Amino acid sequence: MTPIPFIDLATQRDRVRPAVEARLGRIMDQGAFIMGPDVAELESALGVFTGARETVTCGSGTDALVMPLMAWGIGAGDAVFVPSFTFAATAEVVGLVGATPVFVDVLPGTFNLDPAHLRQSVEEIVRRGELVPRAIIAVDLFGQIADYAPIRAVADEFGLKLISDAAQGFGSTRDGRQAGAFADVVATSFYPAKPLGCWGDGGAMQTDDADLAAILRSIRIHGQGTDKYDNVRLGLTARLDTFQAAVLVEKLAIFPDEIEARTRIARRYHERLDGLVLPQTIDDNVVSTWAQYTVRIPGGQRDTFTVAMRERGVPTVIYYGKGLHQQTAYRHWPVGGNGLPVTEALCRDVVSLPMHAYLDEATQDRIIDAVRESLDVLNRAVAETPISGRA
Ligand SMILES: Cc1ncc(COP(=O)(O)O)c(C=O)c1O
Repeated sequence: MTPIPFIDLATQRDRVRPAVEARLGRIMDQGAFIMGPDVAELESALGVFTGARETVTCGSGTDALVMPLMAWGIGAGDAVFVPSFTFAATAEVVGLVGATPVFVDVLPGTFNLDPAHLRQSVEEIVRRGELVPRAIIAVDLFGQIADYAPIRAVADEFGLKLISDAAQGFGSTRDGRQAGAFADVVATSFYPAKPLGCWGDGGAMQTDDADLAAILRSIRIHGQGTDKYDNVRLGLTARLDTFQAAVLVEKLAIFPDEIEARTRIARRYHERLDGLVLPQTIDDNVVSTWAQYTVRIPGGQRDTFTVAMRERGVPTVIYYGKGLHQQTAYRHWPVGGNGLPVTEALCRDVVSLPMHAYLDEATQDRIIDAVRESLDVLNRAVAETPISGRA
């Protein structure tokens, strides 16, 4: 039995290879490794893709999250509201600028930020008076754009900045609108496994605010001013290198086609796994980029399931087994409202199945059969467990 990859990057690589190789050759000929013409070309193409007025590429998705916080002068004594059910970088960047992340719960269906819990968490921080609420980072988890209208309403009511962490959901839309219709900045990652990934590290920020974009461009190169040797603020080495931009120009050209393929594959999973597992709910009128296809295996039996899947040659990954508020380096930071019961339940239940734009039907059928069989194994294990020992 050929092993099934969790993500197949090779098929896509072969599809874009000739065009990318031509670009890489040109860059080598020109020696334009830093801020070469492909970077400007990519920034302009990304602007066309989303409609954002300003695009500033950078070295990673983490750079793309930390740089707006730096630009707004967010730091010690400030609170930034973030989900706990996300990748570490979402909260890490808040700590890196010296501010305090406040962890907010997510919705049990979509796994995205819960606007009611967000409001409760902001009100609580205001009431306590120890930290100044400054910003919200909402995450477009597993490819699904967050429900930004109510999140924006909370941001506006309390005078907070709003960042979309679109590392997984860049290109996702709700009612035909991108996250940039609501967020002050959309930050994305081009890490290779992301729906739009390069062949190394990379990221980008998009905004309609030209003044902010100018500051982000300055931070990207050590806080440089109009004169290259005049450093007007603290910055970083956070440029996207030209090789990665070249890869991305070619990958962006096929990205809409890949989103369609992912949508078709996700729909097929939905239809064939209906009634067997609980998949992430996708809101009406949302186009997800399906960074992950994630389902819930309730009842404390996820490990039995993943072991049975592995025995059938199907890899699964747990995103995420621990909320950020439970991470060693993060657990001293505050949790909003009355705790994060949804996050904690998801951390116990979720498992992601193989998902990429090149998953063919025969391979997907093997995965679906493995899910059915693994659920049978799980149900037998539950039936054999004495009631007192059940989760
Ligand atoms: C939700 C989220 N935010 C931020 C990041 C950070 O991106 P990067 O690895 O490019 O720094 C990632 C991915 O790794 C992510 O999944």
